[in-house]
Amino acid sequence: MASRYREVYDSWKRNPDAFWAEAAKAIDWVSPPEQIFDAAAGVYGRWFPDATCNTCFNAVDRHVEGGRADQIALIHDSPITGRKKNFTFAQLKAEVEALAAVISDQDVTKGDRVIIYMPMVPEAAFAMLACARLGVVHSVVFGGFAAKELATRIDDAQPKLIITASCGIEPGRVIAYKPLFDAAIEMARHKVDGCIVLQRPEQQCELTEGRDVDYAGAVEAAKSAGREIPCVTVKATDPLYVLYTSGTTGQPKGVVRDNGGHMVMLKWSMDNQFGVAPGEVFWAASDVGWVVGHSYIVYAPLLHGCTTVLFEGKPVGTPDAGTFWRVISEHGVVALFTAPTAFRAIKGQDPQGEFVGRYDLSTFRTLFLAGERADPETIKWAEQKLEVPVIDHWWQTETGAPISNNPVGLGMLPVKYGSPAVPMPGYDMRVLDDAGHEVGHGKLGNVVVKLPLPPGCLPTLWNADQRFRSAYLEEFPGYYKTADAGYVDDDGYLFIMARTDDIINVAGHRLSTGGMEEVVAEHPDVAECAVIGIADAMKGQVPCGFVVLNAGVAREPADIEREVVALVRDKIGPVAAFKSVVTVKRLPKTRSGKILRGTMQKIADKEAWNMPATIDDPAILDEITTALNDKGIGI
Ligand code: COA
Ligand code: AMP
Repeated sequence: MASRYREVYDSWKRNPDAFWAEAAKAIDWVSPPEQIFDAAAGVYGRWFPDATCNTCFNAVDRHVEGGRADQIALIHDSPITGRKKNFTFAQLKAEVEALAAVISDQDVTKGDRVIIYMPMVPEAAFAMLACARLGVVHSVVFGGFAAKELATRIDDAQPKLIITASCGIEPGRVIAYKPLFDAAIEMARHKVDGCIVLQRPEQQCELTEGRDVDYAGAVEAAKSAGREIPCVTVKATDPLYVLYTSGTTGQPKGVVRDNGGHMVMLKWSMDNQFGVAPGEVFWAASDVGWVVGHSYIVYAPLLHGCTTVLFEGKPVGTPDAGTFWRVISEHGVVALFTAPTAFRAIKGQDPQGEFVGRYDLSTFRTLFLAGERADPETIKWAEQKLEVPVIDHWWQTETGAPISNNPVGLGMLPVKYGSPAVPMPGYDMRVLDDAGHEVGHGKLGNVVVKLPLPPGCLPTLWNADQRFRSAYLEEFPGYYKTADAGYVDDDGYLFIMARTDDIINVAGHRLSTGGMEEVVAEHPDVAECAVIGIADAMKGQVPCGFVVLNAGVAREPADIEREVVALVRDKIGPVAAFKSVVTVKRLPKTRSGKILRGTMQKIADKEAWNMPATIDDPAILDEITTALNDKGIGI
């Protein structure tokens, strides 16, 4: 089929309001939008400013009322615990409604915040939807973050309640959550009144009297009492959630998502971008703690009336490199969305793709990859082994949905390896030099979006309009700065090459090296430090720390390095994957004192590099090379 992409993109560009007004018809509004965009509202304008709605109603109730009550809405497939469970839309509604009753019993009402700190259990999705039902703003915190990160989010979001679990499960170990959330609550300045705790059979915890409520008991009581909790009407512009993401400091950014624009964009994306129809099975192998989990495990598939798979396992080791194919064949998945790193892990263990042949993948149509640059090798391997189109697409926590994609629903465009394809409607992409001038096709520069951002993108940062302006809007007036560097080719395809800030992508997880430096610098024996991201064959990038010790420290550097690794794991969490530290005598700097992180990275990655003209002492680069070689770090 010839692609309708160009025609659809042009129709958006000609009349954005008409385009989004039409897309908005797919949503059940309490009162539909009369005004589509108000350029004078908010920081850069607001979408659907006069509409009212409820996201949970659209994701759950309307399917129950509209003939999908008995269709499976959510499949929990957990190879790590050996459990599987399905929930129909009717059962999903019962779970969500009962939990909403329990939440409101905690004196939590519209506009209040609730933090959800849970592993990949169905109750995590129920909790998100129950908050949405009540007009309560949820903030999900990824289970791999340490207590201090949770405490930082508690202080910023100021939740009334935390919904959590007794434990998470990683290969070979059970992670007790109670010590983590107890420590976070203790550390935080903002005081949390209550916790709803899901007891998991793998490891239960003692509940703190007067604070903790047993999830299962309370939900059961709400069900027995036949509690009915209607969907609370909210403004389209009211926040649905706040999701914290790494910024350029240890203080994460609270990305705000509204209710109306988010629904419109996600619903539109399901058929037009992902080519999936209501009733089909969609699987995003991510975690509810990340934006992909919010958008494509929970909200988009459910808004679209699809069955979604919530997978608690890893691409390899639970139990083998065939798990993904087992899930696809067992549940009839039509589209899988994951990060390239997952495929590199599978390919590493099963290079010939022998596991693929053991499963019936006849329902499977498309593989979508995002979260980091998809290396052409991995894409080609997946294409060859799976015999389906492999689509690289690009987005950010801030946008909530793809900025660029190969929209299979509109008719697939040719694949260009290394490119996440073309801008989606809503995105007028430009590439600017550092002075803000547009560069020509094929020229590398700062990739920016001409304002306004489309529906579903962050309208601001939580309680931080000025930080939003300074982080994203001020450097290139009139544009949103993606902080990605790249170029556009003659056919309008984007190529996203690197971040322009200190963010690194580790196994598809977004982390700030600046945040890690803040922690490393806390070690009493460390005088100075730098953390850079270095290439890793499986994870894409991993962090590597360089430390200069205080004068007179007589301890073994290896002991200090071990302590620094432990400190980052303790303060940020295991997800930081911070395992390499190199002690050096000095750090390479410019004459004005700026650490030459880019050059250090090139040395570690064995890439060609030029001696920076402004370097203070070139001999230091030799010292860095020797230190890395001695430790066997780098490719
Ligand atoms: N709770 C607690 N710890 C967690 C965790 C969680 N939810 N998630 C990860 N961790 C831990 C891991 O156990 C690991 O600990 P370790 O240092 O003791 O081994 C550490 O954090 C690093 O995790 P990760 O970077 O995920 O590495 P891994 O080796 O466990 O797995 C992959 C590597 C590639 C298999 C895995 O990252 C993956 O499946 N990624 C692709 C999918 C994805 O999640 N993408 C995100 C956005 S789409
Ligand atoms: P996150 O906010 O975790 O989704 O991370 C967003 C960042 O991941 C982007 O700014 C990019 O740097 C990177 N990224 C995501 N998808 C892609 C992709 N398809 N190609 C290249 N980089 C990507």
